Amino acid sequence: MIKNEHVPIMVEEILSFVNGKNNLSILDCTFGGGGHSKKFLERGHFVTAIDQDDYSLNIAEHLKKKYQNISFYKTNFVNLDMLNLNKKFDFILLDLGFSTNQLNNNDIGLSFKTDSNLNMNYLGGDLDAYKIINFYDKEELQRIFNKYGEINQSEKLAKYIVNRRSIKKINTNYELIEILRNSGVNFRSKKIHFATQAFQALRIESNHELENLIIFLKKVHNFLKFDAYLAIISFHSLEDRIVKKYFKENIIKNKKIFQNNKDWGFNNLTKKPLTASRLEVIKNNRSRSAKLRVGRFIN
Ligand SMILES: C[S@@+](CC[C@H](N)C(=O)[O-])C[C@H]1O[C@@H](n2cnc3c(N)ncnc32)[C@H](O)[C@@H]1O
Repeated sequence: MIKNEHVPIMVEEILSFVNGKNNLSILDCTFGGGGHSKKFLERGHFVTAIDQDDYSLNIAEHLKKKYQNISFYKTNFVNLDMLNLNKKFDFILLDLGFSTNQLNNNDIGLSFKTDSNLNMNYLGGDLDAYKIINFYDKEELQRIFNKYGEINQSEKLAKYIVNRRSIKKINTNYELIEILRNSGVNFRSKKIHFATQAFQALRIESNHELENLIIFLKKVHNFLKFDAYLAIISFHSLEDRIVKKYFKENIIKNKKIFQNNKDWGFNNLTKKPLTASRLEVIKNNRSRSAKLRVGRFIN
């Protein structure tokens, strides 16, 4: 039995859009531990799954032994249009970010709770936190801390890091945390660990999280059937802002009146994003920051 520590988020909310429907074709672009995909498979739907992660590939292989209706592509979801899928889908899901399996993997080093080599790259690309911290110039560091970490004193932090790395390269998560602690920067640390914002910035940059989302959104309409659902779960405000803007720009006001000068658009099914129930947050703390936005595709 392959170990899977990821608990899928907002499952009931997601399934509520497909209840009572049969034989749907589902595209799960962030397969992760396969939690959402499995729920669709159990209901007899057909799943095409994508994830860049090797461990997800193993989980998908395992799932295939029980369910025949799944195909898996190990790639970045920005490559959606290069997979020769030759079909459109009734439901497309993006459950962004990283899985608990990746969080618990010390080689990736996403957690500030365990010491690991500076990495944070969970998508296998060329960039990682070690390269960013040790080789980005001061202005680039300041930019990512400001833009992706929303750290007010990003210049002060960048300057301090450049100074410290000139004495000795910064190799591990714990070394970085010690540097953040001694930087004299005021982090937004009331409810969260003081290193959260800096780690978030490095993770977003290492994995091109926002660029990936933007590229994906430029293509996804080509893969939606008429009346299909596009459901996106995001975990930080920078992602959610992009998703909100996307649905707003492509909203259908009245029947077939497309705002975007294109021949397609969405009915926005979540004027306000759905969030996890209190019970789910108690059971699974990761769900506390999840925001689900869903649009219904019309063309
Ligand atoms: C939050 S987890 C998804 C969990 C999944 N829904 C479940 O229930 O098990 C996010 C997953 O998306 C994958 N991912 C994130 N960005 C990706 C991208 N640009 N291309 C491919 N996979 C990506 C990660 O590797 C991770 O496995």
